[in-house]
Order: sequence, then C-alpha cells, then structure tokens
Amino acid sequence: MENNRPLHVIIIDDSKRDVQLLVRALKRGGFEPDFLRIDSSEELTAALEDKTWEIAISDYHMPNFLVEDALHLWQENMGDAPFVVVSGAIVDEEAVSLLLSGAHDFIRKDKLARLTPAIDRELREVEVRRKRREAEQAVIQLNATLEQRVVERTMELQESLAALQKTQKQLVESQKMAALGCLVTGVAHEINTPLGIGITATSHLVNATKNLRDNLNSKQDDVHATTEYIKLADESLEMINGSLKKVADLVRSFKNIAVDQCSGDNRKFNFKEQLEEILFIYNPRIRNTKHTVSINCPDNLVINSFPGAISEVIVNLLSNSIKHGFEDIEQGKIEITAANSSGTLRLTYEDDGKGMDEKKVERLFEPFFTTKRGQGNIGLGMNVVYNLVNHTLGGQIQCQSRLGEGVKFIITFPA
Ligand SMILES: Nc1ncnc2c1ncn2[C@@H]1O[C@H](COP(=O)(O)OP(=O)(O)O)[C@@H](O)[C@H]1O
Ligand SMILES: [Mg+2]
Repeated sequence: MENNRPLHVIIIDDSKRDVQLLVRALKRGGFEPDFLRIDSSEELTAALEDKTWEIAISDYHMPNFLVEDALHLWQENMGDAPFVVVSGAIVDEEAVSLLLSGAHDFIRKDKLARLTPAIDRELREVEVRRKRREAEQAVIQLNATLEQRVVERTMELQESLAALQKTQKQLVESQKMAALGCLVTGVAHEINTPLGIGITATSHLVNATKNLRDNLNSKQDDVHATTEYIKLADESLEMINGSLKKVADLVRSFKNIAVDQCSGDNRKFNFKEQLEEILFIYNPRIRNTKHTVSINCPDNLVINSFPGAISEVIVNLLSNSIKHGFEDIEQGKIEITAANSSGTLRLTYEDDGKGMDEKKVERLFEPFFTTKRGQGNIGLGMNVVYNLVNHTLGGQIQCQSRLGEGVKFIITFPA
C-alpha cells in the first residue's frame, strides 16, 4: 500500500516463514517494514551498529539465541526503544518475567491482529518519552545557565554599585570643595576693596612724602606744606590701618571656617560668634540682594561640637534659600534660632521663600535630588547636610514646608 508508514524494524526470528507472516501482518496494519531478519547474538550485535532502528520484534523460542540475551543486547544499544515479543506458546510466568526485564509487549502468534496497534502505541510512547527527556534536559540546561546568569548579573551589579558609591563619595567630596571654593571666591572679592583703598592711600602718601623731601632738600621752609603733609599722612595711615584690619578680620574668619571644614575636629566654641562668622564670610552673596538674615541666639551659648560641620550645614541652607527659595522673590527673610536645653542644641532655620510641595519634601535628602538639574546643581547639598547632621553631629534634621509657605528646618544634636 502506498500510504503505509515506513518502519525500520529488526526481526529476531529463526523461521523465514514466521517472518513472512509478521511482515504481512505489519503491512495489513498500515506499515511498510524496512526490516532485517537475524537469529544470532553476533548478527544482532552487528546490526545494532545502526542506531536508527525503531523497534525490535522477537520470537520467543529460537535454537541459537535466547530472547533474554537479545533483549539485553537491544537495551544496551537502543536504551528503551520498543522491544516486542511474538510467540506461539509461552507460559504466563515467562511472559511476566520478560515484561519485568523491560520488554514492551508480548503478543501471541494466533493474535497477530494485536501486533500493529501495539507497535503504534509503542512508537507513540517512544515519542512521548523522547519529548519528556528533551524537556528535562532543557530544564537542567536552563537551571545551569540560570544560576550562571544570576551569578554573573550579581557580580555586575556589585561592581556597578561599588563604582556608584565611589562616584558618590567623590561627588560629596567635590561638593565640599566647591563650598570651600565659594568661600574663597567670596573672601577674595571682599578683600579686594580694602586692599584697593590701602594701595591708593599708600601711593598718595608716597607722592606726598617725595614732595616734602624735595622741599626740605631745596631748603624751602614751607610750614604750610609740612602741616598739609602731616594731615594727609594721618588720613592715609588711618585708611591703611582700617583696611588692613578689615583684611585681617576676613582672613582670620575665613581661616577659622576653612580649617574647621577641612579638619572636621570638634571643640568648644561660642555658637553665636560662630554663626556670625559664617554670615560675615557668606555676606558677599547676600549683600547685593534685599534678603535679610537674622540670628536669635543667646550671647553666652558655648557648645562642644563640630564647628566645621555646622558651618557647612548653614552655608548649604543659605545657598538653597537664595538659589531655590527666593527664586523670583526680591526680599526674602531668613531666621536662624538656636537654644540649648539640657545638652541638646535645637537649631531652627527658616526662610519665607516659595517652599516645597509634599513630594519634594519627601525626596529632599535623597542624593542627586534636584529640581534644577543642568543649571549647575547636582542635588547633593541636602544629602550632605543630612549626613553631616546625622553622622558628624550625631543629631537629627527635619524639614517642614508647604508650597508657597517657605521652609523650616529643625536640627537637633548633642552639644
Ligand atoms: N529653601 C528651599 N526652598 C525651596 N526649595 C528648596 C530649598 N532647599 C532645597 N530645595 C529643593 O531641594 C532640592 C535639593 O536641594 P539640594 O540637595 O541642595 O540640591 P541642589 O541645590 O543641587 O538642587 C533643590 O533642587 C530644591 O528643589
Ligand atoms: Mg543646594
């Protein structure tokens, strides 16, 4: 028949007649057998070099070959490919023992009509077993690669986390440096004016002294000129003195704050004086505006803490008020209040700027949170403040704000 399914089959049987019967039954049942008949162990061993056999059909009683040996050889070479026994006479126990050894079915010669349905079923089951094995293999493979992938990803993640932490540290450091840099610029700017006055007064004095010396050399005894000179010299010296004092003050304050910020040491200091010093240094950035800063702090409040950290906190808060809070506001008010109660310093910082909505307040202390990215802001200022208060000062900071209602920071720390 044309549409018969080809079947690559080994037939283990000593009787050519029986084989003919089998082949006929197979054809009737819809197969087109491509078969090899063998009846000895050697022949089977040779035939099994070919691994494409789909099925073995074996006789039970053979003069030169035990069916058990045939089954064993088959299993060794073909695994669990179907092995079906066809026999004339066999006792039940023998059949059972064969099936237990792994034969797939047992069919009596007088019931050959059962053969092809049995083969159909066995071939289907082979397919099912093959698919299951493939699926199991795929799962094992997947598990292995999955573990490997998880390990690799974890390592990648750890590396990028380490890189991120390093970058963040560097950024925090550079933010600190930028704060110091800002101070330097401010101080340089402040020093310029008294220095200019000093230089002008000195050059006046130099000129006047030269004139006086010329007069004296030419023996012109001009009392009026001498009196004028003394007057000019007095004025000039006063200006030079005043200017130098201003410069000295500025340099001293700057040195204090810079040293505190760089060294990070703790010491005893007067809190109000420290606040005033910070404002004095910071002043150039406020002076040209109409914003005001007021300090409410007892004169005699002396604490033991970290002045560098405190000035960094205040400078950050001041610069945020001016940059963010007073954006589009001409006349902003900042109020700093400090009081000590039983070993805890409570510092409140308020501005009456534009404030923040709830979402911004929530994210305020997150590193890299900024509403002005791309305008020279990186969003580390408040994170630095948070870390300074929590870690360096060992305290707490809290922000209260509403949109349009300014901000209030409450900072408490042991002092
Ligand atoms: N006083 C303030 N008034 C209004 N908004 C503020 C104030 N201080 C901080 N903010 C908001 O918090 C954000 C984070 O501040 P900060 O961490 O200092 O980063 P940056 O100043 O680089 O933006 C700012 O971008 C701003 O939106
Ligand atoms: Mg800032």
